[in-house]
Amino acid sequence: MSGVVHTDYSGDGLDESALAATPLEQVARWLAEAEARQAERGDVPEPRALSVATVDRAGRPNVRTVLLRFLDGRGPGFVTDLGSAKSVEISATGGVAASLTWPSMYRSVRFRGTATALGRDEVADYFVARPWGSRISAWASHQSRPVRGRAELEAAYAGAAARFPDTGSPDDVPVPDGWGGWRVACDEVELWAGRRDRLHDRLVLARVGPGGLDDAAAWAVHRRQP
Ligand SMILES: Cc1cc2nc3c(=O)[nH]c(=O)nc-3n(C[C@H](O)[C@H](O)[C@H](O)COP(=O)(O)O)c2cc1C
Repeated sequence: MSGVVHTDYSGDGLDESALAATPLEQVARWLAEAEARQAERGDVPEPRALSVATVDRAGRPNVRTVLLRFLDGRGPGFVTDLGSAKSVEISATGGVAASLTWPSMYRSVRFRGTATALGRDEVADYFVARPWGSRISAWASHQSRPVRGRAELEAAYAGAAARFPDTGSPDDVPVPDGWGGWRVACDEVELWAGRRDRLHDRLVLARVGPGGLDDAAAWAVHRRQP
């Protein structure tokens, strides 16, 4: 095909000997490096952009981008509308895959596992930290459901804003019951590092026993062909 641009990926790669002791430490290290690079060079916009794939009850796949808001031994987590398409699909099957991709660093992380709902306490703690306008939108928008036009959406926003005026207090807008989030309890985490001539590194951390992403004994390392 003419006009196709072939970019050779001159990344650092990832060797087994350089892997952190746990999947959590490794992912957190790469995320911190992506955030630091964005701060320094500005070529990793939204380093926490997380593609989340789900399947509906009929097996039809779906994917969208959210922001990684939680990362600990229990897995990566994000906030969303509990009535959204993604939440309905997650509730139907439990299965979820997610990926973080930093193209300018030739790095990607893939998570596969089962979704668990975020606890209401952690949802509430997160919600109060959001700007007032975002909290109002959580009331105004019923994510993924149809709306006749922008005007209807803005009227819903104005209605919620009048109901919960901005007092400057984190408690001025209650958490909507239908707003929350999900965490991916992982059984596999793949670290992809692009290298020259398409001979990339793919290290797969596969679950071999119970334990979190922060429990080294729960994981074995395999290498996959690129
Ligand atoms: C960079 C970026 C960040 C986003 N962050 C979120 C988020 O954290 N939570 C969310 O529900 N939607 C987020 N969205 C919107 C989703 O991509 C999507 O439109 C929405 O969640 C509805 O998806 P669904 O209908 O498949 O449930 C984000 C979109 C982009 C491009």
